[in-house]
Amino acid sequence: MSISHERMNIPETVAIIMDGNGRWAKKQGLPRTAGHKKGADQIRTIALEANRLHIKKLILYAFSTENWKRPEEEISYLCKLPGIFFSRFIKELMEKNIRVTFAGELERFPKDTQKVIRKAVDQTKGNTGLELCIAINYGSRREIILAIQEYTRQVVEQERANDLNEEDFSHYLFVPENVDLLIRTSGEERISNFLLWQIAYAELIFTQTAWPDFDEKALDECIQEYNRRDRRFGAVK
Ligand code: IPE
Ligand code: IPE
Ligand code: MG
Repeated sequence: MSISHERMNIPETVAIIMDGNGRWAKKQGLPRTAGHKKGADQIRTIALEANRLHIKKLILYAFSTENWKRPEEEISYLCKLPGIFFSRFIKELMEKNIRVTFAGELERFPKDTQKVIRKAVDQTKGNTGLELCIAINYGSRREIILAIQEYTRQVVEQERANDLNEEDFSHYLFVPENVDLLIRTSGEERISNFLLWQIAYAELIFTQTAWPDFDEKALDECIQEYNRRDRRFGAVK
């Protein structure tokens, strides 16, 4: 039976490191790109389930600043995926009131990839349900450097005082929210440069399930596990 948001403590901000597409494909004797294709379908499935559960923001790690090290053919396929994804699902995202945003530097992608992403953001900007944030050409260290550069510029140009606090700093980042729950699929237990600042007090779940097999039930199980955790934030309960 599926879980309900009325009976559960639902995390506001959930982040997922969508890992294991390549290994999933290899296991079935398919090229890595087949894993990425199935992985893109799972984005739809998980976004709809997150929306149903009233999660406020879902941040999905789709492409890291380190993923440029991959073979050119794989990168070029990944650049085509946003176009394929949004042409198939934009109508459904509108119907379900889901708002698309992104985190990362789009400028390094081909012009048409940038265009489809910006168009999806623009088309869905009035939606008030789930915020589906795609982290693309995203690296947390890069995000922090960019934030420091912008803050420093504002101080030097006397647009603001040199009085930064933690809350202020978060607004210089691509993702200002604290993450409540971070999930990584496919067995690796590492963060790989994702949301280093934002996960300070996140609950971490590492699951063996590969991203192409990560379905509604798998997300529901993670929410149930989250409900069993005791979050203390450094205090005594
Ligand atoms: C995650 O799957 C998707 C991206 C990083 C783009 P991988 O492509 O990393 O799959 P594995 O880890 O090699 O199985
Ligand atoms: C992290 O996965 C990045 C994304 C899921 C987009 P990787 O597969 O690139 O990470 P490592 O290399 O195993 O740490
Ligand atoms: Mg991987």
